[in-house]
Amino acid sequence: MDFQSVIAARRDNQKQTREQLELVAKSAADGTVPDYQLTAWLMAAYLNPLDPEETAWLTSAMADSGERVDLTGIAKPWVDKHSTGGVGDKTSIVLLPVLAACGLTVVKMSGRGLGITGGTVDKLGSIPGFRLDLTPDELKAQAGRIGIALTGQTPNLAPADKTLYALRDATATVSSIPLIVSSILSKKLAGGAETVVLDVKCGSGGFMPTLGQATELASALSETAKRCGLNIRIAISDMNQPLGRAVGNALEVKEAMETLQGAPSRFATLCVELAALTLEASGLQPNREAGRLAATNALGSGAAAQKAKEWFAAQGATQDVFAHPEVLPLAPVIREVEFDGTDCWVSEIKANVVGHAVVALGGGRQRKDSVIDLSVGVEMHVEVGSRVGAGTRLFTVHAATESAADLAISNIRNSISFDSKPTEFVFPILHTL
Ligand code: URA
Repeated sequence: MDFQSVIAARRDNQKQTREQLELVAKSAADGTVPDYQLTAWLMAAYLNPLDPEETAWLTSAMADSGERVDLTGIAKPWVDKHSTGGVGDKTSIVLLPVLAACGLTVVKMSGRGLGITGGTVDKLGSIPGFRLDLTPDELKAQAGRIGIALTGQTPNLAPADKTLYALRDATATVSSIPLIVSSILSKKLAGGAETVVLDVKCGSGGFMPTLGQATELASALSETAKRCGLNIRIAISDMNQPLGRAVGNALEVKEAMETLQGAPSRFATLCVELAALTLEASGLQPNREAGRLAATNALGSGAAAQKAKEWFAAQGATQDVFAHPEVLPLAPVIREVEFDGTDCWVSEIKANVVGHAVVALGGGRQRKDSVIDLSVGVEMHVEVGSRVGAGTRLFTVHAATESAADLAISNIRNSISFDSKPTEFVFPILHTL
């Protein structure tokens, strides 16, 4: 089969065969087809989207383009979690230890951040010594020993996605639902878990700005997972304001550690809800309420924090970062901004504006090969619904230079709107399916 005929079939919106889609995945993984042909196919697939059957075939083929982690022999249930990505989304750093403390085995492959949606790999990379290149054998051994293992995208797992995602990113073909679905689920299939919980972010700080688009993606993920034999639960969660207090890699690790030590917040509520959904979906807890209780106990008792310490040490952290948070990178310029108006309420914090401000500080990538500054970012001291008066602390900027801080302060000030009437609290989970 020649690749030109595969491109032509997609261009002409003809149904593709399983073999054709296997060729796309194989060629992306082994480099036997040049990038210009792969991108021609991607653009054709963007314009003529794959149907559900084709999406499932492509997903399985991408999962089989490398190794699949075989977790046979280690304690069940095996679970995985994935987020479509958002501003301040450090959920995995809290959720994984909570789930492991509750008795689940969690194996996860995480990505680097791109644009305004940060990546768990970058965040954990701010912990000195933390290894993010575990092999499938190392993943399995560590998961068997302590119940958690996480790696960055390695050449062995779903290598077709690595190539296709980079090409999509450079050719304006990321935002196609079947391509997003096959990208996400191929990695989940390769990771070996039986149960997967997906957090689909909805709002200006993620890929899906509206509830309609988020629901469309969630339904497509659910349909493809079913066709590929994956037990999946999906939460659609709010991404219109930054998630939690911190946005920026080391700052988010610090916030995650505080949450693991029991600090309550809207972000902690999201972690408990996702844990409850996972515990219920895996069958370890009989229902969501029992899952909530188990997750809340894991946070309150210190069991989740203890599990996180074991996890960080197992992946090579050179010091206990809970005992020595000062080992995390710290920005040289720290500037706090206060409210200077009259009493009112915060009505909106535009997540996308805050995300872009942190990228401009150097905390995110403008291009896939950009080097990021792990120390910079922003801490928001208010959220939507907060009451403010003259002198209330609004946010703190952590920057590399005074001029970078000036720019971030001006942008983040503009991301916050105020109202003379109280604004309703938005629960972090909008829907589950
Ligand atoms: N996250 C992924 O892993 N892949 C996509 O295509 C989009 C978000």
